[in-house]
Amino acid sequence: MPFALDQIDTELVTLDRELLRRSIRSVNTPCGPEIQIQGRSLLAFCSNDYLGLANHPELIAALSEGAARFGTGSGASHLISGHHVIHDELEAKLASTQAGAIPNVRALFFSTGYVANLSVITALGLIGNKKISIYSAALNHASLIDGIRLARGQGSVDLHIFDHHHLEALDDILHNDSAPHKLIVIDGVFSMDGDLAPVQKLLHLANQYDALLMIDDAHGFGVLGKHGYGILEDQRICSDRIIYIGTLGKAAGLNGAFVCAHKKIIAWLIQKARPYIYSTASSPALAFAVLRSISLMEGEKGKELRVLLQQNIALWKKESTFTRWKRLESDTAIQPIMVGSNETALQLARALDQFGYWIPAIRPPTVPKGKARLRMTLSAAHTKEQIEGLCNVLSELESSLPPS
Ligand SMILES: Cc1ncc(COP(=O)(O)O)c(C=O)c1O
Repeated sequence: MPFALDQIDTELVTLDRELLRRSIRSVNTPCGPEIQIQGRSLLAFCSNDYLGLANHPELIAALSEGAARFGTGSGASHLISGHHVIHDELEAKLASTQAGAIPNVRALFFSTGYVANLSVITALGLIGNKKISIYSAALNHASLIDGIRLARGQGSVDLHIFDHHHLEALDDILHNDSAPHKLIVIDGVFSMDGDLAPVQKLLHLANQYDALLMIDDAHGFGVLGKHGYGILEDQRICSDRIIYIGTLGKAAGLNGAFVCAHKKIIAWLIQKARPYIYSTASSPALAFAVLRSISLMEGEKGKELRVLLQQNIALWKKESTFTRWKRLESDTAIQPIMVGSNETALQLARALDQFGYWIPAIRPPTVPKGKARLRMTLSAAHTKEQIEGLCNVLSELESSLPPS
């Protein structure tokens, strides 16, 4: 037997014992609130399809029209022969979404947000072969953390972790930092807590200490701002220090991601971002459909869906009151319910499943130890009745489940 197999068995048993084993559930219906798993109907409060576009007829039509016009595969990486004119068109459109926020902006389209984050951080770590200090928020997404890990393996990186609720400490470290290059990295909307990054204050620090500011707005693009252009539009900030990451697999209802930054930074990524260079370009049909999604998002339809989403968030906040559990302070579609132990989180997720609701238990390492939770997400596609029904079931479970 190959050497690793016994060890894997042992470790899987440990994960089981610690209630940390993850599993895959296969959905048998399109993404939406009402789904089916193994013949059972469930109401899902866990996707990132915030505007309900992942099964929108116009996007379904756009994806098939894109495939008919451009084919299904790109055939190669962007720098070999996989970059199509429709990728150019999409990148011009994506750049226009951040044109008010980043002077001299250019956009680069990526196959996923994970790859975009690895690409940006590793490439920035290589500029001039100089030492770089990376300042990363403690609750940043795993893809940012992994980008930093990779950057540390390739060059001289000093890493500082900061608490985004207390920026005085960050100010102090920046003040005493003589590294020639500095990069502050942050989630725009924290993916597990749902709160917004203090981007204005961070930009102020970036200006003061000559740092770049990388904002991963995976959960803000499509949702925040008048046109859904994300946190920079929402907070009305503008700077050529900002590197903006948007993803297209969440509110945009498709797949992929993009980086918007000063055109010189994009030119550098094209030369040095290995995860970009050595990976097949995503399908031109997808690029075509993303263009359609962005025009939906920025137009009247998008505005209407954002209003519905906000109404759903307000309804949830009004109707969900807990005594034992705690709802984190969040104004976004990410509404975590803090229940404490892994055991309680799993028990609650299972009980909800019995009632026909799907809200997964989120446990370490995705969240810090002792901070297990149900990560509930709302969508414009949820109805008032669905949200009220969930609130009733949760309050029943809160009083009936034994304390952990
Ligand atoms: C904050 C954040 N950044 C990046 C990503 C990765 O994006 P993608 O799913 O497109 O790889 C995610 C995905 O969950 C995320 O939540």
